[in-house]
Formats: sequence, C-alpha cells, structure tokens
Amino acid sequence: MTEQELLRILQQYGQDHLADYYHTLPPRQKHDLLQKFIQFDIHLAFKVYKEFCLKKDSGHAIRAIEPPRVVTIPKNIEEQRKVEKARLAGEALIRQRKVAVLIVAGGQGSRLGYEGPKGTFRISPLIDKTLFQLFAEQVIALSRRYGVTIPLLIMTSLENDRETVQFFHAHSFFGLPPETVHFFQQGMLPTITPNGKLLLRNDGNFVVNPDGHGGSLKALHDSGLLKRLTEQGYEELFYCQVDNPLVKIADPVFLGLHAVTGADASTKVVRRQDIREKVGLYVYVNGRDAVVEYSDIGDDHMSAFDENGDILYWAGNTAIHIFSLAFIQRLTDHGFVLPYHCAQKSVEYIDHTGISCATDVWKFETFVFDAIPLAGRTCCMEVIREEEFAPVKNKEGNDSPETARKAMMGLHRNWLQKAGIDTDPDTKIEISPLFALDSIELQEKIKHMKFPEKKDIYIE
Ligand code: UTP
Repeated sequence: MTEQELLRILQQYGQDHLADYYHTLPPRQKHDLLQKFIQFDIHLAFKVYKEFCLKKDSGHAIRAIEPPRVVTIPKNIEEQRKVEKARLAGEALIRQRKVAVLIVAGGQGSRLGYEGPKGTFRISPLIDKTLFQLFAEQVIALSRRYGVTIPLLIMTSLENDRETVQFFHAHSFFGLPPETVHFFQQGMLPTITPNGKLLLRNDGNFVVNPDGHGGSLKALHDSGLLKRLTEQGYEELFYCQVDNPLVKIADPVFLGLHAVTGADASTKVVRRQDIREKVGLYVYVNGRDAVVEYSDIGDDHMSAFDENGDILYWAGNTAIHIFSLAFIQRLTDHGFVLPYHCAQKSVEYIDHTGISCATDVWKFETFVFDAIPLAGRTCCMEVIREEEFAPVKNKEGNDSPETARKAMMGLHRNWLQKAGIDTDPDTKIEISPLFALDSIELQEKIKHMKFPEKKDIYIE
C-alpha cells in the first residue's frame, strides 16, 4: 500500500485525526504505521461497523426454541453398545489418517490476567505442566496408540503468535515431530469507537482485537491449511479451546458418532449445573440446532424447567466440536459467512495530544458455534462434566486454575479407584497422558504397580 492509498482510505472512513497524526511523523514512523495498517481488513471492519450502527445484527432473531436432540450418557446396555460401535468407527477414522486436531489459542485471555499466551499457563497439579504440553502429550499418545501421525493445528493471533511458536521451539515441541505442528494466525479487526474512530495505543499500534474463535475457520481457509489437509486426505477436524485441560483430544466415540450421523458439525455438551450457570446453550431454534449465548436467550428460557422439575434447556456448550473439512470449505469458499457479534468494552488509547485516555469501544468478532445452524447435519453428544470440561477462564473463583486442578485430580483419583487403588484425599494426583489417556488404559498398565500411601502420586 502506498502513502496516497493510506490517506485516501483514512479520508474515506472519516479518520482525519489519523491522517493529521500521520503527517506529523518522521519517515521511519510513517512506514511503521503503514505496515500496521495493512495488518487488518479496514473495509470489513467498517462494513460490520455500519451494520451495527443500523442495528442490523447479522444474527437471526430467536423465534421458536426447543430442547435439542442429544445423544445422552448411556443408561443401559443397548446404549452402551452404540457407544462401543461409535468408538470403533472413530478409531478407524484416526487409523485411516482422516482426523486432524485444532486448538484455538488466539484469544486475549484478559479474565485470567496472565502475561503470555494462555497455552503457556502452568496448570497440571503436581508437575506444573502447561496447557500446551498436556495437549501435545495427548496427541503423541494418540499417535502411538493408533500408529499414525496426527496433525496438530494451533491458531494464534498477531498478539501471541511469536511467543507461542517460540515456546514450542524452546520445549522441542514436547516430543511432537515439528513438521506435524502447524501454527496459523487468525485475522485482526480494529476496535472502533461508537462514533466510528480508529484509535492508537501508546506503543504506536492500532487498537485491534482478534476476530473471534469463529475466525479459525476463515484463517484455515486463508492460510491454505484447509486445502493442504484436504489434499492429504484428511476429512475431519477435531476442534477445542486452549483453556480446557480436561478435553479428550480426538475422542474416538465422539468422532464415531459424528461419522455415523453423517454430521458436518458436532458438539459436546454438559448438563448445566443450575439455572444460574452462565454458559452458551445448545438448543433447537428456528428449526435448526444452534448455540445461543446466555445473554441472548433471556431469563425465562434460562430458568425454565420441564414437567419433571429438570432444567429444560440443560445442554451447556463445551466448545468441543468436530467439523468436516468439506463443511469448512463450504463456509469459506465464496467469502466468509459467519455473522459478526459486537461487544462493548473499555480500552486505553492515546489522544492526538499524546495523552493516555480510556474510552468505550466496539469489538467485532465471530463465534465458531454460529457454524452449527449452517450445517446440513449436526450431532450433539452429552459428556460428563467432571471428565471433560474444566475451563480456565478467571483468575479466581469458578472456572479458575484452582477449579481446573481440582477437576484434574478428581478425574485421575477416580481412574485410580477404578483400578482398585484408593488414595488419601489429601494427596495430589497426576497421570501423564503419555502413560494413560483414559481409565481403561490405566487399569491395563497399572496392574503390578505399587504406590506409597499418603504420598502425592505422579504416574508417567
Ligand atoms: P474466550 O471467549 O474465553 O476468550 O475464548 P479469551 O480471549 O480466551 O479470554 P477473555 O475473554 O479475554 O478472558 C475461548 C477460546 O477461544 C479462543 C481462546 O484462545 C480460547 O481458547 N479464542 C478466542 C481465539 O482463539 N481467538 C479469539 O479471537 C477469541
């Protein structure tokens, strides 16, 4: 982009304050600002901005809402048989090299208040392994179990890409073959004030935000990774978030159900703990499966009960999905189709006199679950919260490192108990994914092992 083009675009979008500022800069800084300007799609940002000014939220109004059809936790032998059948189908998919894994890790992690990419946060209860290490070890263990290499895709953002990639290099990819790990960056969008102004931070960068986890689908396409995976014969993408240390990566049962249903998009859900739990709801709405944010659904629906006194809309989204690559291709082929959402937040910026100020802004992003209603077929599977869902969102309180560590220890204590080993509740427990990925594997391997009583247990 040339200087003339930059100035023309700034004028087109009413950014005279930035054009004036640009003219005051020495040549080197002018060049820097131009380089920063081309890191985001200004035309897209103002297209979305205008939609929100006209209050034309590209999401659809909720009309008729019903509980969805869900494959629930097996309650009898017949249902258990179906699960076993699904497991075989899922295992076959992995063995046939049809499955790749995506971890979205481009978020800002502001609630956790941790400096650095969230995946580098130390979470395991005894060994202090990072989230990234736990996921990498699961992928290694799965690859060994099924005799294949599973591609691991990690989505970063402009803000944390370099640190994330360096982290993997510094830890020798935790034992993964480096050529099987693919980093790609999601898009950024400028954060815009309600009266349409772009802002600069005191380090000279524009105030921007990553374009939401839905941006993963767009970035997979734009980076060429989607095409590459498809050409290599991969068909399904297991999707999860960097903040859930309990996620069962490429769970064969989930993959099998997805395949048997012929689904384009599948989702794992957990039962909501109570009507106050703030989680996205998996529902059947306007004739399609969808995830609706708790803030969009209204109190009446959030607190509705069925005739048995159970929560009516009980299915909470875990953000664990499978998307078929062909479906992602359809969503991105002729322009990206997910709707943008607008969040209001407050940011710091520098005004034209160089003084640091705070102001309210609009942040635009897409949500990956908005792909679900666009799918031809969907599949939804209930899982046990204690076994699969303990997100690390907040510094303290619910969904914090403390609750996640507790959940990890609870799960592994339970595995040991199933293997006939009772542990002192005051001891800490951690089982490496490299030793066992599930309770059955643990039971097989642990038969002749002895553990000292009243001591913390790490099994690797
Ligand atoms: P959250 O919605 O919890 O956001 O992301 P966050 O950015 O991690 O945390 P807060 O809200 O600032 O505290 C859920 C998952 O989606 C990823 C995050 O990295 C996390 O794995 N994500 C979110 C992205 O990859 N990109 C985004 O733009 C937003």
